[in-house]
Amino acid sequence: MKNIVILISGRGSNMEAIVHACAQEKWGARIAAVVSNKASAGGLAFAASHGIATEVVDHKQFDSREAFDTELARVIDQHQPDLVVLAGFMRILTEGFVRHYEGRLLNIHPSLLPAFPGLHTHERAIEAGCKLAGATVHLVTPELDHGPIVIQAAVPVRADDTGDTLAARVLRQEHQIYPRAVRWFVEDRLTVSADGRVSQLDGAPQVVWSAD
Ligand code: GAR
Repeated sequence: MKNIVILISGRGSNMEAIVHACAQEKWGARIAAVVSNKASAGGLAFAASHGIATEVVDHKQFDSREAFDTELARVIDQHQPDLVVLAGFMRILTEGFVRHYEGRLLNIHPSLLPAFPGLHTHERAIEAGCKLAGATVHLVTPELDHGPIVIQAAVPVRADDTGDTLAARVLRQEHQIYPRAVRWFVEDRLTVSADGRVSQLDGAPQVVWSAD
């Protein structure tokens, strides 16, 4: 049974999707803990109500990113993770933290990377006149919102979209692709080539298109 630790900062809807898929699809894995940098994160209540251990490491209690990341890693490692999943975890991580979890750290980012790393991705896609937007699940490397791409979902940008309407359309697809990527990881169905390309061993599609 593999241990998954999920990091959140807020609502936690991607975490919920992963928790549900893990239970419904009977993965050979368990959500060992949900960790947040904010005690107010809405997702903590959901996790606790599903019998999942919850932890808070408040970044405001630390004078440096290094000190915060050291404590965060200590708390995570108590749950012996095979995989650490960043699910709306809104902190920039130090290189030391990322190296510690290298090869077992996944993130979801709400854009078609390498376009629009960072914040306000949906507003930036609309301003740029993009006709497609989406989300990317990737293995984390020290460079922000960068790393081998596991799966992407693409949705249309509509003429009347606002950041919020586009975010909602993308989020529905995030809930499809993130559980899929996590399952592939825990079932050892992913390989990464020397040049950083990720393949799914069964040939399952690593892209999802949605016109909705
Ligand atoms: C998601 O849209 C996720 O892609 C994004 O935050 C949201 C969290 O929602 N992540 C980032 O922007 C990371 N750079 P959730 O808490 O409901 O899963």
